[in-house]
Amino acid sequence: MKALINQISFCYEITGSKGVPVVLLHGFGLNRSIWLPFATKYLGDQRVILPDLRGHGETDATAGLYRMSMMAEDVVNLLEFLGVRKAIICGHSMGGYVSLAFAEHYPHRIAGLGLITTRAASDTAENQRGRYEMVEAVRNNGSAALAENLASRLTADANLASEIRTILLQASPDGFTGALLGMASRSDRSSLLPGISVPSLVVAGEKDEIIAIDEAKVMADALPDGLFLSLPNAGHMPMLETPEELAGGLVKLIKRVEAVEK
Ligand code: MLT
Repeated sequence: MKALINQISFCYEITGSKGVPVVLLHGFGLNRSIWLPFATKYLGDQRVILPDLRGHGETDATAGLYRMSMMAEDVVNLLEFLGVRKAIICGHSMGGYVSLAFAEHYPHRIAGLGLITTRAASDTAENQRGRYEMVEAVRNNGSAALAENLASRLTADANLASEIRTILLQASPDGFTGALLGMASRSDRSSLLPGISVPSLVVAGEKDEIIAIDEAKVMADALPDGLFLSLPNAGHMPMLETPEELAGGLVKLIKRVEAVEK
């Protein structure tokens, strides 16, 4: 489905129709398809909203830098368009950065928060340098310059890496560079966590090469109502690698939220 959001054609999908709406945000270079089989198989009738973030999937790419707050604004305007006042915002990796920006700017619109293999801290200088190099590579050689290396960093499972590579190869160069520049310039949102009082879930993959498990645990401890779920067999992509275990955590989060919202 498509809607005109912030002057761009914005693509999203909805599965289920019951309960508190859950928004599942994908990570960098990916799109809603990464969450769709998970939502259909494990979240049943629950109303789940799956957006393609700006410059990703079938949502328009704009030129320039995509601030996390800009992508959060797209999401809140999508909720507005759908008539959804409050939702559980759940983001994977870059989608988690967007979820925290959402929590900062629209705290009254959050019923629960899910942070999946993501971090609250900003980029280190070294990470930023890596991103600027990637921006140059994509500008010079297109999306393929990034897809190969990135896919194998996201998961150790060769079949899943190949699926992910196919998605990354379809991504728009403007989307890649906008998101890279936006992630490089994002602020540290760690100080926000103690003020997020809604039920929250932090998920870490014990084989994740991108987010250290200790960092995830610190985030969960900082959230007043935060649960920590550590997945021994997951890397950076638990919705593909260990979907059942991830679903166990998310279903608990939904139940906690529904108990509060009653
Ligand atoms: C992602 O999966 O969204 C990215 O790995 C996040 C990042 O590069 O910081």
